[in-house]
Amino acid sequence: MTADPPSGSYYSGISVAPPPRSRGGHGLPLATPPRKRTLVDPLHAHGGGRPPVSTAPPAEPEPLEKPVEPVEERLTEADVDGEALAAEIDTELAAQAQPLPSRSEQHEWHGVVLVTGTDTEVGKTITTAAMAAAAQSAGLRVAVIKPGQTGTNTGAPTDAEVISRLAGTETVRTLAEYPEPLAPLAAAKVAGLPPLDLSDVVDAIRAEAGKHDLVLVEGAGGLLVPMGLRASGEPWTFADLATTLGADVIVVARAGLGTLNHTSLTLEALHRRGVYARVILGAWPAEPELVHWANLGDLVPHMVGALPSGAGSMDPGVFRRSAPGWLTPALHGVLDNWRVWAEEAG
Ligand SMILES: Nc1ncnc2c1ncn2[C@@H]1O[C@H](COP(=O)(O)OP(=O)(O)OP(=O)(O)O)[C@@H](O)[C@H]1O
Ligand SMILES: [Mg+2]
Repeated sequence: MTADPPSGSYYSGISVAPPPRSRGGHGLPLATPPRKRTLVDPLHAHGGGRPPVSTAPPAEPEPLEKPVEPVEERLTEADVDGEALAAEIDTELAAQAQPLPSRSEQHEWHGVVLVTGTDTEVGKTITTAAMAAAAQSAGLRVAVIKPGQTGTNTGAPTDAEVISRLAGTETVRTLAEYPEPLAPLAAAKVAGLPPLDLSDVVDAIRAEAGKHDLVLVEGAGGLLVPMGLRASGEPWTFADLATTLGADVIVVARAGLGTLNHTSLTLEALHRRGVYARVILGAWPAEPELVHWANLGDLVPHMVGALPSGAGSMDPGVFRRSAPGWLTPALHGVLDNWRVWAEEAG
């Protein structure tokens, strides 16, 4: 583990207001000074994934570097109700667009990194492939481990197969496969197969960590899904794996309605265990709507990446060339300005 990410970002709450309409780019008007929030919860604590230790007020954002269109020229009458929302989202994006600290000051994602999600089917596998591809492009030796692959009787490609195809990672290991599409412990029981043993999984991950710069471990479903049994006979979860390994965690989240609650619950569960965590959106829609922009405004301080919807269907060559653009430099990508990203993504 390295230093905490930079403090100094701040959060401005999102008001309930209709979207700005009929604008280019991300359609967001010029930011207005945000309200300061003093609450500390996982979606609002920006200083890092650990429980906050300082009560110092957050720093004011730096002024924007480039001139922006005057608000009044960009607003129509129909937009007025959306002004507060749009301004706050834009302010948040602007705050995240401040020059990044030097690499040595950033949190570095290397060693063992666990990839969980707010739910199943949120894009963990595609995100893991993107993280692997970006790290490989940066010259890192990467391994991917899927401890428990379930649903092998469905005929769908396994997560390891998807990651190998998309990222071309040489070392992609699945530690146990179970036929039924259930949580790994349930799938093991139903099939009468040995459940995953926590110590075995830890040993397998550490073995690869000795040979690689980055070991990505993809969970099954969400954070607290029963993965297997400890030697004591107690079930263990992906959260237990994170604390046992002392590993950092990427939380893959949806962009749409419901994601704030699911993401907050997952981050809170990780924070209270002292686990450093950051968020990646698994599939940012090609045509984002109000809910996506509003969610982005809340989540972006926690985010270290966002994949476009459709990334999983890309030609592998295109996927590998594109992946660094979806991830921040701390994750070996080149996404260093959320405001620019929003202009392009919207
Ligand atoms: N960015 C994306 N582009 C295209 N397809 C995507 C994207 N993200 C997810 N998908 C698709 O959504 C489905 C679920 O994604 P994925 O398999 O990565 O989920 P998961 O979180 O890994 O689920 P699981 O818990 O089963 O491992 C897959 O069919 C995948 O192809
Ligand atoms: Mg998966």
